Amino acid sequence: MNKELIELAQKVSNEFKTSKSVHCVSHYDCDGIASAAIVYKALKRENIPVKFTFVKEIGDKEVELIKTFEEPLILFTDIGSGQISNLEEIAKTKKIIISDHHQPEKETKLIQLNPHLVGIDGGKDISGAGITYLLMKMIDSKNIDLLPFALIGATGDIQNDENGFLGLNRGFLEDAKRLGLLKTKKGLKIYGRGRKPIPQALTYTTEPYLPGITYNESGAVQFISELGIPLKVNGKWRTFQDLDLDEEKKIINGLLIRGYPAEELLGEILILDNGWEISEFSSMLNACGRLEKADVGLELCLTNNMEIANKLSKEYGRKIARYLNYVEQNIQNPEVIRQMDWVKVIIAKNKVHANMIGTITSILHRSNTLKCSVLIGTAYAENDSIKISGRSSQEALNKNFCINSILSEICSDCGGKAGGHKLAAGGRIPQENEEKFINLLNEVVKRFNLEEKNGKKN
Ligand code: C5P
Ligand code: ZN
Repeated sequence: MNKELIELAQKVSNEFKTSKSVHCVSHYDCDGIASAAIVYKALKRENIPVKFTFVKEIGDKEVELIKTFEEPLILFTDIGSGQISNLEEIAKTKKIIISDHHQPEKETKLIQLNPHLVGIDGGKDISGAGITYLLMKMIDSKNIDLLPFALIGATGDIQNDENGFLGLNRGFLEDAKRLGLLKTKKGLKIYGRGRKPIPQALTYTTEPYLPGITYNESGAVQFISELGIPLKVNGKWRTFQDLDLDEEKKIINGLLIRGYPAEELLGEILILDNGWEISEFSSMLNACGRLEKADVGLELCLTNNMEIANKLSKEYGRKIARYLNYVEQNIQNPEVIRQMDWVKVIIAKNKVHANMIGTITSILHRSNTLKCSVLIGTAYAENDSIKISGRSSQEALNKNFCINSILSEICSDCGGKAGGHKLAAGGRIPQENEEKFINLLNEVVKRFNLEEKNGKKN
C-alpha cells in the first residue's frame, strides 16, 4: 500500500475524533451509495450520528442547501474534489472533509483525501468508496469488513473492466478474498446468474451489449432455444448457475457464431456475502441513483431488502430498453446521431432522461452498434441546460486525448462546466449552445491524430 496515501488517510481520519455529528453529502451513483454505506457502518461503530444527502453535483443550489445543515461537520464522499471553489464557500461556516477520487479542480487548504494528491490514478485504481474505506479503516481497523463496499463502488464506476481490477482495487480484491468476505468462481459473467431465468439474465446483460438480446426477452428466448438448451426443468425456470459446463460452452459458441464478443463475458465471478454477484448489486445501486432513489440504494446496502431491488431493477430495465431502442432506430438520422471523423455524438434532446444519458452512453460506447473511440451523449436537463456524458478509449488516451480535459475546455467555452476522469467525464452547458458545443468538439478533436494510417479508427 502506498505510504503517502496511508499517511494522508491517517491525518484526515484524525479530524473525526472530536466530531459530535456528521452530515455526509454523497454522489448519487453506485460509488456514492457504497461510500455512504461505509460511512454509515463505520460511524455507527463510533457512536457518531450521521445524516445523508445524495447529490448529482455541488452547484449553487446545493451550496445553499448544505449551508442550512445543522451538523457542524460535512463529509463529502465520491464528490467534492472537482468543485473545490464551491466547497470553499461552504467551508466559511462549516468544517469540511472531502473523501473523493475525482480529479481535484485546484489546490486547496480544505481537508481532502484524494488518490490524485499522492500520484495515484483515481479513474482506474481506486473508487470513491475505496478511498472512503481507507479513511474509515484508519478510524478503526475493524472496518476492514467493509471492504466489499469498496469493490462494489469500484465496479459501479467501471473500474473492473476487461483487465479486471487494477492498482489499489486489486489489493482490495485480494484482501477481501483472503478474509473470506467474497467468494469467487469462473464462468460467464451474466447479470443475475444465480437468480434470474436464463433469458431474463441474458436480457439484462449490457456489458458487452448484445444487440437483439440485451433488453430483448423474445430475442434471448429464441437464442437459447435455437441452441437446444432447455429453459425449464419440471416447469421451473433454470438459471445460469443450473447450467452444466457443456451447456455454458454451447452458449459461448452460439454467441461467437452470431458475432457477439462472448470472450468478454468469461471471467471471475465475485459473489457477495448476501449471495448477490458484485456486478449485479452494483447495477442495482446504479439503478437506484439514476431513478433518484439513492436513499433506497443505501437501505439496500444496509438491509439487503431485495423486494425493493427487484421492483427498481424492472423499472430501470424498461427505461434503458426504451432509450436504447430510440438510439438504434435513429442511427442513420444525423439529427440524433452525429457521426464525425472518429467521434460520435448522441443528440437525444428530451428523448433520453438526463440522469440516464451517462448509462446509455456507457452501454453504447462498448456496443458494436455505435462503436467508436469517443462517444458523447447529450440530453436536455433542468433549467434549460444540456447534460453531457463523454466516454473515451485507452487508445485515445495513449494519444493524449483526455476526455476530462477536453470536455472541461469545450464546456467552459460554451458557458458551462465539466469534470470527471481520463476515460469518462460529464458536463453541463446551456441549451442554446448545443450546436456550438458540437462544432467546437469537432475542431478540438482534430488536434488529435487518432486515425490510424490504414483508415482503421481507434
Ligand atoms: O455524468 P457522467 O456519468 O457522464 O459522468 C462521468 C464521470 O464524470 C463520473 O465519474 C462523474 O462523477 C464525473 N463527473 C464529474 N463532474 C461533472 C460531471 C461528471 O466529476 N461535472
Ligand atoms: Zn466514483
